[in-house]
Amino acid sequence: MAPSLWSRWTKAAILALACQRAASACAPRFSYETAELTEAAIADVAKKDSVAGSLLGFGEDPEFPSKKPGPPRASCKVFPGDAAWPSDRVWNAFNASLGGTLIKTTPLAAPCYDNWPQVRDAAQCQHITENWANPRLHLEDPTSAMFPIFQGRTCFPTNDPTQSCTLGGYASYSVAVTKVSQIQLALNFARNANVRLVVRNTGHDFADKSIGAGALSIWTHKLKDLQYYSDYGCKKHKGPAFKLGAGVVTEEVYAAAEKNGVTAVGGECRTVGLAGGYVAGGGHSPVSVLYGMGADQVLSLDVVLPNGRFVTVSEDSNPDLYWALRGGGGSTYGVVTSVVIKAYPKTPVTTMTFTYTTSPNVTADTFWASIGKFFTYFDRFTNAGAFGYFLVVSIGPGEFLFTFFPFWGNNMTAPQLTTLVTPYLNDLAGLGITVTPNITEYPSLLTAFEGSWGPEQVGSPVGHAASRLFPKENFQNPAKINATVAAVRYAIEAGGVLVGYNIKAAANPAVNQDNAVHPAWRKSPGLFILGAGQLPPNATDAQIAANAKVMTTDWMQRWRDVSPGSGTYLSESDINEPNFQQAFWGSNYAKLYKLKQKYDPTGLFYAHQAVGSEDWYITGQIPYYPTQNGKLCRK
Ligand SMILES: Cc1cc2nc3c(=O)[nH]c(=O)nc-3n(C[C@H](O)[C@H](O)[C@H](O)COP(=O)(O)OP(=O)(O)OC[C@H]3O[C@@H](n4cnc5c(N)ncnc54)[C@H](O)[C@@H]3O)c2cc1C
Ligand SMILES: *[C@@H]1O[C@H](CO)[C@@H](O)[C@H](O)[C@H]1NC(C)=O
Ligand SMILES: *[C@@H]1O[C@H](CO)[C@@H](O)[C@H](O)[C@H]1NC(C)=O
Ligand SMILES: *[C@@H]1O[C@H](CO)[C@@H](O)[C@H](O)[C@H]1NC(C)=O
Ligand SMILES: *[C@@H]1O[C@H](CO)[C@@H](O)[C@H](O)[C@H]1NC(C)=O
Ligand SMILES: *[C@@H]1O[C@H](CO)[C@@H](O)[C@H](O)[C@H]1NC(C)=O
Ligand SMILES: *[C@@H]1O[C@H](CO)[C@@H](O)[C@H](O)[C@H]1NC(C)=O
Repeated sequence: MAPSLWSRWTKAAILALACQRAASACAPRFSYETAELTEAAIADVAKKDSVAGSLLGFGEDPEFPSKKPGPPRASCKVFPGDAAWPSDRVWNAFNASLGGTLIKTTPLAAPCYDNWPQVRDAAQCQHITENWANPRLHLEDPTSAMFPIFQGRTCFPTNDPTQSCTLGGYASYSVAVTKVSQIQLALNFARNANVRLVVRNTGHDFADKSIGAGALSIWTHKLKDLQYYSDYGCKKHKGPAFKLGAGVVTEEVYAAAEKNGVTAVGGECRTVGLAGGYVAGGGHSPVSVLYGMGADQVLSLDVVLPNGRFVTVSEDSNPDLYWALRGGGGSTYGVVTSVVIKAYPKTPVTTMTFTYTTSPNVTADTFWASIGKFFTYFDRFTNAGAFGYFLVVSIGPGEFLFTFFPFWGNNMTAPQLTTLVTPYLNDLAGLGITVTPNITEYPSLLTAFEGSWGPEQVGSPVGHAASRLFPKENFQNPAKINATVAAVRYAIEAGGVLVGYNIKAAANPAVNQDNAVHPAWRKSPGLFILGAGQLPPNATDAQIAANAKVMTTDWMQRWRDVSPGSGTYLSESDINEPNFQQAFWGSNYAKLYKLKQKYDPTGLFYAHQAVGSEDWYITGQIPYYPTQNGKLCRK
């Protein structure tokens, strides 16, 4: 063959092969997903330490559960100090099997305390004190959580080193996972040793579902692989897609989308774990009004099941888990190691911000009438591709403030957005409220995201929130609108803070939307988050409990009363939500519970208000102030 012909042929062949790969293959596993645990590796550990080796075996196949009764089930998970707690020798052998990635945890603020001499460090303490509200500080720690109120408040930064700091609700050990085999080892070890297990990604969860006293934690933060497919062609799916490692966060996905000229569905917050709790909980996004929920975008997942086996989950492979892992909640059916999500063409965004308050010319009643007017546009705005993110707060007795941060028009120019909002602004003017909108055009989601949102604040010693999905009729029927305004006003007058989303989970024929996300999401153009009444940072447990009780049983009860049969968003919800099964999943709950029994018959996975959690309790709790600081026991 002549050299020129040869090179032309190879070039064509390579191109053809490359195209084929892009067009017809499902995403191959990441390299960290190819290192699976083998029986030989378990036998190797057993040779060196028979006790540790005996704790690493796989669990039963959920399709073929054994008929013979197992040993009697312990009523509680073992706890540090219990006779059955694994010995140091066993922990060391387990660590060796993991390749040395086991971390004995210390509280993030321990460097501030004399009673942690091994980590005591004044400079480090100062760094932690200054950055406590920054999510990135907690993100990089193997066990910290961003709502320390529910950890039990046992170790905050301080300038008095003589106070005491304890582990409280933080996990005892954490595995800094870099390979699937380590997740398999950790699941097998926790199941066989009856040690409490938690899955910790970023620690963003409102209820601290990523921590637990006496637990072994699987820390997924280091699983950062990210692959873009310009033409993902797996089964019937065609078009752009991303495969994301479990530790990838929203801002990383948005940056990759920008670089590749596409849009990805993620949240408003920079550091939420997209493949972790976000997708598992449902996931809302500024582009949900175009494409649906975050969970709807998932084409497949790779998952280590409670029995330690590693599987791919999609429409065709383990379809029951494909349904449950998209909206059923985190830490329930296994550890997700990666997800493949659909991506969309890049679209421009135009945002609008403005603020108004009560004033000598705008009475409180007029202010609340303006909120009612806004509600009448909810359906129209979301149908046009807009997403409204707003705050309503009391700024003094009988004084209130409304602000957009921002009103977000997907695929709109400034003139298009202006046309959309003009009737609404005219209504405000009719009430004597004149506003000065700041309208800004952006070329893409990432640029609008960066122009709109700064770093989030976390780490409050006392703060928490609740939420409710309000169905269409609450924004259409005049009497319902007034009842909704009245219910909201009551909570804001009493000291609550409303963070409102005018949003919808759009129907999207390009993806599979038959999943575990609460059906209420498909009917509700309003998700309202309510921040609890302010407490001083030194509030007692009793004060926290009393404050929480008011929010759950009075403020939120009024919200529930005006939206009967609806629900709420489990990822941004009340830690005391009554009847959480109905509130988070509605008619999907019975099926989710059945799948929990099938895939996790020993109760390896537990999280507060997760599917099946009603079968467990944590010792030493006071009503309305649940924390992770106690033993986990079966009811
Ligand atoms: C400041 C802030 C802003 C937010 N903004 C948004 C938003 O814009 N849109 C939105 O929808 N939500 C938002 N949320 C809520 C967020 O989606 C949830 O808190 C979500 O659960 C966070 O997931 P994570 O993996 O980052 O956090 P984590 O707290 O680490 O995990 C959350 C839960 O998922 C489990 N989990 C994590 N990874 C895995 C895994 N790989 N396999 C199995 N289980 C796992 C954990 O065990 C835990 O139960 C926000 C929360 C905060 C605090
Ligand atoms: C696990 O092993 C590594 C490497 O030997 C070591 O650095 C680490 O401290 C060990 N972890 C525990 C909990 O002992
Ligand atoms: C308040 O109303 C008065 C009388 O109508 C008017 O002169 C004034 O400009 C208004 N103030 C504002 C801030 O709109
Ligand atoms: C965005 O607008 C353009 C032009 O109006 C239209 O062709 C396109 O389909 C829109 N994209 C989406 C996602 O709505
Ligand atoms: C309008 O909003 C943009 C984006 O947030 C900001 O950069 C700009 O300073 C604002 N303009 C005014 C006049 O406030
Ligand atoms: C709703 O409230 C507005 C004022 O806030 C009032 O004008 C209207 O009559 C009320 N509508 C109903 C149906 O109660
Ligand atoms: C909290 O601190 C304030 C101000 O320092 C003090 O007045 C109050 O008594 C403290 N409350 C408690 C419960 O310690």
